[in-house]
Amino acid sequence: MKNDLGKSILHLKPPGNWLNDPNGFIYYKGTYHLFYQHFPYAPIWGTMHWGHATSHDLIHWEHQNIAVFPSIYEDQNGCYSGCAIEYKERMHLFYTGVHYLKTNYENIHASVDEQFEESQLTLVSDDGMHFDNFNNKYVIIPVIEDSAIGDRTHTRDPKVWRGKDAWYMILGSTINGERGRLLFYRSYDLYKWQFVNSVSEGGGFGWMCECPDYFEIDNNKVLMFSSMRKAEDGSKLDSQTICTLVDFDETTCTMNIPKNYQYFDYGLELYATQSTIDALGRRVLVAWLRMPKPVDNEWIGMLSIPRVVEVKNGHIYFRVHPDVECKFNKLCSDIPKLSESGYRICAELSDGDMINIGGYKVFRSENCICTDKTAVAAGKKGEQLHFKTPVVKDGFYVDIYVEPHTVEVFVNNGEYTISNYVYGLGNSIEADNIQNCKIFVIAQP
Ligand code: FRU
Repeated sequence: MKNDLGKSILHLKPPGNWLNDPNGFIYYKGTYHLFYQHFPYAPIWGTMHWGHATSHDLIHWEHQNIAVFPSIYEDQNGCYSGCAIEYKERMHLFYTGVHYLKTNYENIHASVDEQFEESQLTLVSDDGMHFDNFNNKYVIIPVIEDSAIGDRTHTRDPKVWRGKDAWYMILGSTINGERGRLLFYRSYDLYKWQFVNSVSEGGGFGWMCECPDYFEIDNNKVLMFSSMRKAEDGSKLDSQTICTLVDFDETTCTMNIPKNYQYFDYGLELYATQSTIDALGRRVLVAWLRMPKPVDNEWIGMLSIPRVVEVKNGHIYFRVHPDVECKFNKLCSDIPKLSESGYRICAELSDGDMINIGGYKVFRSENCICTDKTAVAAGKKGEQLHFKTPVVKDGFYVDIYVEPHTVEVFVNNGEYTISNYVYGLGNSIEADNIQNCKIFVIAQP
């Protein structure tokens, strides 16, 4: 099944070759812009560029020209992850520039023994469509020299937000490659940034924090980051995105992070979330699905369906964005043909119920929702095949979005989610005796 190179539907996929983290997600002048880590020359990770796509409905994505690419000393070896904000009608991108300290003569796209430096850069655009990589880049936080503040090699992924009286930035970093640390900076003009504080106490920190994000929802303060952990046997995806409610004081940038945390997604394959505010002021985010092998040797990596973040009774919910959900409005009486635009299965599961979607199984086991992808795995050594939510509280309602390369299960409107990549999914649905099981497709994809 080939990807239509100019467009994506439902999930943003690269026009070809490699995609990883979402970057610079923003609703800007009436259009959603979504950038992503992109290696445009082969379906492997390499020197990072920012790919760019736009959408008017969060479901149809149109690919644009590459927005950010290496052009100066500081980002010679990669334009890593970052964010976008609008200020005085201009789009300001913030990202991490990577400079290798040694040349790898066999492969210029890889570093030698992790010897590189990272600094933080900005690139400003007047219209969100044209990005002057040669004249408009500025280094705003040079390589950190003081290890008491941060790490010169691993300090990256700026996320900027407007606070009460200033701009703030959170960065992911590490203490000596041993413990993750988050850095906070403040600015009054988006160009001069001052270090304010760092935090490394709380749950979920691995050896390094990547792609941190901080935002408020109805007075709840939410922290998310992707924590890199050293895998015990190297096989499982031990690095995970976590989220938690925190205390944060803007004046001092002190953050109290509790020991307990939720996983963003219990399929454990999504990573590096990127959030923004949608057209109606809701917090919406997407994440990278870490596919282990390319499809048709042409492309690899995709972004999740956009999810709205909500907080209820101290729990963080991630539900399908209503603009996506409402498109699945045509009820099917037969099993729909598997296609890129996907289908949606809604059902209420009793204990022991199972839905088998072309080999991918979703079932209830006591008070948890589980999935089993043994029949549609990538065939990678040590690949995790079974997934399970914590005990659910809100019921046993599942909303499952299916397309040829991924299945996303939303439990109780986002109380928990399980998302997995799939290879070789069949065109069948077995859901015998399941109460109120309904299947929907998009009427006009
Ligand atoms: C997370 C990450 C980021 C970095 C980017 C590089 O997946 O490692 O920390 O900016 O990917 O592509």
